[in-house]
Amino acid sequence: MKELNITTKIKVCGYDELTPEQKILTDQAKEATFRAYAPYSEFYVGAAAELANGEIVSGNNQENAAYPSGLCAERVTLFFANSKYPDVAVKRLAIAARTNGDFVQECVAPCGACRQVILETEDRGQEKMEILLCGKDQVYIVDSIKDLLPLYFSKNELLG
Ligand code: THU
Repeated sequence: MKELNITTKIKVCGYDELTPEQKILTDQAKEATFRAYAPYSEFYVGAAAELANGEIVSGNNQENAAYPSGLCAERVTLFFANSKYPDVAVKRLAIAARTNGDFVQECVAPCGACRQVILETEDRGQEKMEILLCGKDQVYIVDSIKDLLPLYFSKNELLG
């Protein structure tokens, strides 16, 4: 029997260690939490995407009384970016969350469905998408969604 070990490189940074571009994007993700519609979970998530054309788009989670009809902040943001600029890569994505009146302590981790959508967006753009997962005092940074979703399913599986 062979064993396959998968390693993930995550940079752990304080806010002060971020580049100006990273700071702007994390600020926008945090700001977007204040516009989230999350009356049921009261867990307010924001995301901000920096596009290859220099534009930044942000979004947040949108809940619904029929719970499964809601959508996570990451997918709201990326679907909007992809619908507005279908041919523009997303270079960087920041995610932040707030609950009980404060930003969450732990760096926020995207759900599995969002990881899958982030992966397809990265593949569409044909360049790595840096992802910043914000916590209250620190930020986890990965160079690509493939660090968060190894052994991923992609269109290559369908096309053979
Ligand atoms: N949520 C997100 O927006 N992003 C995630 O990655 C995880 C969860 C939202 C969905 C729901 O509105 C609330 O957080 C609680 O799960």
